[in-house]
Amino acid sequence: MTGKTVLITGGTGGIGKAAAVGIASMGARVGITGRDRARAERAATAIEAESGNPAVDVFVADLSSQAEVRRMADEVLSAYPRLDVLVNNVGGFWAHRHMTSDGVEHTLALNHLAPFLLTSLLLDRLIASAPARVVTVASGAQSMGKIDFDDLMGEHDYSGQRAYNQSKLANVMFTYELARRLEATGVTATTLHPGMTNTSFSAEDPSRAMAPVVFVVRPFMRSPEKGAETVVYLASSAAVEGVTGKYYANRKAKKSNDSSYDGEVTARLWRVSADLVGVADAG
Ligand SMILES: NC(=O)c1ccc[n+]([C@@H]2O[C@H](COP(=O)([O-])OP(=O)(O)OC[C@H]3O[C@@H](n4cnc5c(N)ncnc54)[C@H](OP(=O)(O)O)[C@@H]3O)[C@@H](O)[C@H]2O)c1
Repeated sequence: MTGKTVLITGGTGGIGKAAAVGIASMGARVGITGRDRARAERAATAIEAESGNPAVDVFVADLSSQAEVRRMADEVLSAYPRLDVLVNNVGGFWAHRHMTSDGVEHTLALNHLAPFLLTSLLLDRLIASAPARVVTVASGAQSMGKIDFDDLMGEHDYSGQRAYNQSKLANVMFTYELARRLEATGVTATTLHPGMTNTSFSAEDPSRAMAPVVFVVRPFMRSPEKGAETVVYLASSAAVEGVTGKYYANRKAKKSNDSSYDGEVTARLWRVSADLVGVADAG
């Protein structure tokens, strides 16, 4: 990975930080993102120490805000003349429905629209740097997901689990549609389930609804390093050079939710998402 530049959203903790250590250890310049500069700087220092690579940069943004995604994308474009890999990793869970400053349901905003918008804004740079890769961290929860176009933001009927499942299926559909749109550009798009991993996931949900579940399953969870393995593999391995439009778990291609293979649905989700974040749908 020497000479390559990799941006990982949410590299201050959990799977993203472990992936940053793994990829920096291979010699790449790694950019991590977080909401708080001091926390992100501390994480960057730790990643540099663990990987032995001093080329770790910090970008600060709350990715649930579209304005912040846009500002951060501008900073990334100024800082990085080339971008070889984008890892869309940030995601969260909320048991109760609430809206972002953009008037979008939070799970949809952070888990799906943020990677959609960030990738769109960085796409020309990725294409100019080809061969390049976009890796999006989904979840096994995608298999239970359904895109409810009539109630995408759970206005009429919200459940945290349903919103999460939908957002993770959206990650998979986004990846497949992106792969289709990027055919012949040399930029690939893959997505993955990291496995149940011992991180701070869902800890910010004020209801702490997942806490009892996490308490029970924590002993069986993977370490963040293990959870990051498929991320690092898809971001760096020569074995997946040119592989695109696939869903992985444990470094193996797997079948995803049947609906994710429906090109009409993935195209519709793309159009709706482009509209919600105000980017042109290039078709
Ligand atoms: N853990 C699991 O068992 C599991 C299973 C399946 C899928 N996943 C998926 O794996 C991905 C990573 O999850 P994780 O378990 O590593 O979670 P985590 O420990 O909660 O990850 C936290 C990271 O996300 C960043 N972050 C959180 N909210 C943010 C926001 N609004 N704006 C910008 N950054 C934000 C945090 O940065 P700061 O706090 O520094 O801002 C931190 O770097 C998610 O997409 C999740 O859905 C996880």
